[in-house]
Amino acid sequence: MTDLASVWPPAPIRTERLVLRPSEARDRPAFIELFASPEVHTYLGGPRPRDELERAVPEVPGRRPGVFVIDADGAMVGTVTLERRDAQRPGHVRPDAGEAEIGYMLLPEAWGQGYAAEACAAALRWFARALPGEPVVLCTRTDNHRSTRLARELGFTEAERFEEYGAEQWFGVLTPVTPSD
Ligand SMILES: CC(C)(COP(=O)(O)OP(=O)(O)OC[C@H]1O[C@@H](n2cnc3c(N)ncnc32)[C@H](O)[C@@H]1OP(=O)(O)O)[C@@H](O)C(=O)NCCC(=O)NCCS
Repeated sequence: MTDLASVWPPAPIRTERLVLRPSEARDRPAFIELFASPEVHTYLGGPRPRDELERAVPEVPGRRPGVFVIDADGAMVGTVTLERRDAQRPGHVRPDAGEAEIGYMLLPEAWGQGYAAEACAAALRWFARALPGEPVVLCTRTDNHRSTRLARELGFTEAERFEEYGAEQWFGVLTPVTPSD
């Protein structure tokens, strides 16, 4: 299993309307908005208090391999992440676990515009080139309909469902396309 750090950071990735890039200090207020938003955290265990976030969030948040800021017109509107799934958690497709897992979170004002789909598709294309042949997994609550819709649109298929954090989880996999020589 190749370490994500060995392919990080990539050059900024440009799509039709967005740029995916590593985080910067100027993104801090948007990170705090994301973590404090009750709407964003409806299916993610609830928001964190803003005053606590103001104290705890580092100067440059999300500065680690696999964390892309989604930038629209020069401002952060969310994140898309590709990180190794914790072997202790349920849901695996490889015997050695440690699968690459995609996650996404957008500020509510950026929903309903296809930004999440555009950003995730670009991140997955980057991943397929950077670490070819690896599957990507995705775990989201079954009742998070915007998220399961997006997962299916991105090409993920349901591998299993299980209970975690007191709710039913949809666990999907995106199998790499094998080039036919
Ligand atoms: C999950 C989440 C990213 C989905 O956001 P989203 O905006 O619904 O997702 P998409 O990018 O697929 O956009 C689809 C919507 O954009 C619309 N749209 C507009 N222009 C579009 C375009 N050019 N292309 C595609 N869709 C477009 C679609 O019609 C659809 O609209 P609708 O919601 O009114 O039906 C968002 O709800 C979120 O951040 N939730 C909180 C975090 C979370 O739960 N994450 C999951 C854990 S991994």
